Amino acid sequence: MLGRGLFIKVKDVMSASTVHGGSSKNNLLWKVLIFFSLYAVLRYLVFKGVALIHFPLYIVNKILSISGIFFLALSYVTGKSIWPIFEDAPSRNQFVKYCGLAGFSLIAMHVFISLIILTPAYFPKFYQDDMMNLTGEVSMLMGVVSLYFFSIPAITTIPFMQEAVGIQKWQKGQRMGYFGLVTSLLHVGAMGLDGWIKWQLWPGYMPPISLLAAILVCIPLYYKLAGKAS
Ligand code: HEM
Repeated sequence: MLGRGLFIKVKDVMSASTVHGGSSKNNLLWKVLIFFSLYAVLRYLVFKGVALIHFPLYIVNKILSISGIFFLALSYVTGKSIWPIFEDAPSRNQFVKYCGLAGFSLIAMHVFISLIILTPAYFPKFYQDDMMNLTGEVSMLMGVVSLYFFSIPAITTIPFMQEAVGIQKWQKGQRMGYFGLVTSLLHVGAMGLDGWIKWQLWPGYMPPISLLAAILVCIPLYYKLAGKAS
């Protein structure tokens, strides 16, 4: 059985009907973005009191990062399970690919925005004076490494890659996304762990986005480990 990672066998994707759920996939993207936008607005603007002027970058960055993680996790969970909602394997594979690419592009935007606003004023917890502290350095390193691991299956999505690198290397590339999931867990864990346990301090008793992200990432990792164990 071929490894099913972030992206799947190209010929399955190409043979999948584009009519299958084309618009419902776009609807899903909008629904997820709207859901996490409402969550972020409530948690950060309403309950935490972040000024509205920080919506365009600071809040949007949070929406993009959690939505990206959602799609990446969904891609892996879908690839690991047989859901009756899919008519056949090609439509399932097409959905896996869609989720992987949607997740990767949302995370790419998160990275660009983060690099624009990565300053002590926005993220005092990452800094000591004007240099990064250990939390900041470890967390950012894990973010960069995670981006690296996710970019490998993303590149292998290019149609001719399967033929160009050979099936074994291509499958290996697909599985690299699991390291991406693990390092993204370390990325959010390093920055958020402190706040996860202090639930009394959560604005509006709403869990931090970093905690939601960690839970989402653990689902495909659990599937992977459970699959190995059985
Ligand atoms: C160069 C790579 C990366 C950099 C510089 C970076 C930077 C950051 C920064 C500065 C934050 C804090 C945002 C905030 O608290 O408002 C953050 C949070 C986050 N990042 Fe990244 N990141 C990178 C890669 C990634 C990757 C690859 C993923 C996922 C696959 C990811 C997912 C997240 C998530 C889910 C959060 C939590 C947002 C929150 O708690 O509000 N990041 N990242």
